[in-house]
Amino acid sequence: MATTLLSSDLPGLALRHRGKVRDVFDLGDDKLLIVASDRLSAFDVVLPDPIPGKGEMLCQISNFWFGKTASLMPNHLTGIDVASVLPEGVDAALYAQRAVVTKKLKPVPIEAIARGYVIGSGWKDYQRTGRVSGIALPDGLRQAEQLPEPIFTPSTKAAVGDHDENIDFDTAVKLAGADLAEQVRDATLRLYTFAAAHAAERGIILADTKFEFGTDETGRLYVMDEMLTPDSSRYWPADEYAVGTSPPSYDKQIVRDYLETLDWDKTPPGPRLPAEVIERTRARYAEALQRLAGIHVD
Ligand SMILES: Nc1ncnc2c1ncn2[C@@H]1O[C@H](COP(=O)(O)OP(=O)(O)OP(=O)(O)O)[C@@H](O)[C@H]1O
Ligand SMILES: [Mg+2]
Repeated sequence: MATTLLSSDLPGLALRHRGKVRDVFDLGDDKLLIVASDRLSAFDVVLPDPIPGKGEMLCQISNFWFGKTASLMPNHLTGIDVASVLPEGVDAALYAQRAVVTKKLKPVPIEAIARGYVIGSGWKDYQRTGRVSGIALPDGLRQAEQLPEPIFTPSTKAAVGDHDENIDFDTAVKLAGADLAEQVRDATLRLYTFAAAHAAERGIILADTKFEFGTDETGRLYVMDEMLTPDSSRYWPADEYAVGTSPPSYDKQIVRDYLETLDWDKTPPGPRLPAEVIERTRARYAEALQRLAGIHVD
């Protein structure tokens, strides 16, 4: 049963961070409760209308991939029942499918991006320099073209308001240390290759994706945050892919196309969305969940 939640309200739990989409609460010293709301951001602005059930679908997609890749890479999930950590009086059904209890890890200070296609900031950098994150690419690539092999293109974790910047591997080593940077690179490419193959079998191209990693008190590395969701990844329906163009994004294209018809300057507050745009966007997330994870929602 889908629920709608614009913003979590958990009296007694310490709110550590409210992101554009997720709310993060501290559970003592060593655990977090991460709640995926139904907020939708477009052009970096959170819109006033929730997409009903979106947070649940994102959380289920992440959980699917954490489970599927557990033998490739340890992850931050604890398996602790969400209901058991909610304050008394809170409707557990609102949070059951959209929240996870995780280990609280020390974030590795780089964004771990894998790219199998040249698009987005990678395409911009390539056009300017022939390189992405210091990696020289073949001449003559066209927009959205598949790369000879997936590449690791770390970026900085920008402060709020700034944009992440692609960095070369040597800079990643300076930020994270050689040992961690190498482990992160290897895990990122391994996870991307695995997930891209899985998605391809389901008619979806995983063009690129961003992972976040963290370490525990012993220094062991885990994949954390959200994983392989449409928010952290560029998924393209394979049948809409064409080299030389920017293929439509799986989830946000409908909203972006609608917003482009308005006279809105892309600064807050964002405009309200028509019911039809909300429903078509919801259906896109449901389709992603169904196609990637085989989980059906009405
Ligand atoms: N296991 C973990 N331990 C410690 N920090 C974590 C863990 N998992 C995720 N995080 C952190 O939680 C935060 C999630 O908030 P974030 O601002 O990314 O939310 P969001 O909804 O994705 O918004 P945005 O669209 O701005 O990215 C990130 O800073 C991430 O590094
Ligand atoms: Mg985030």
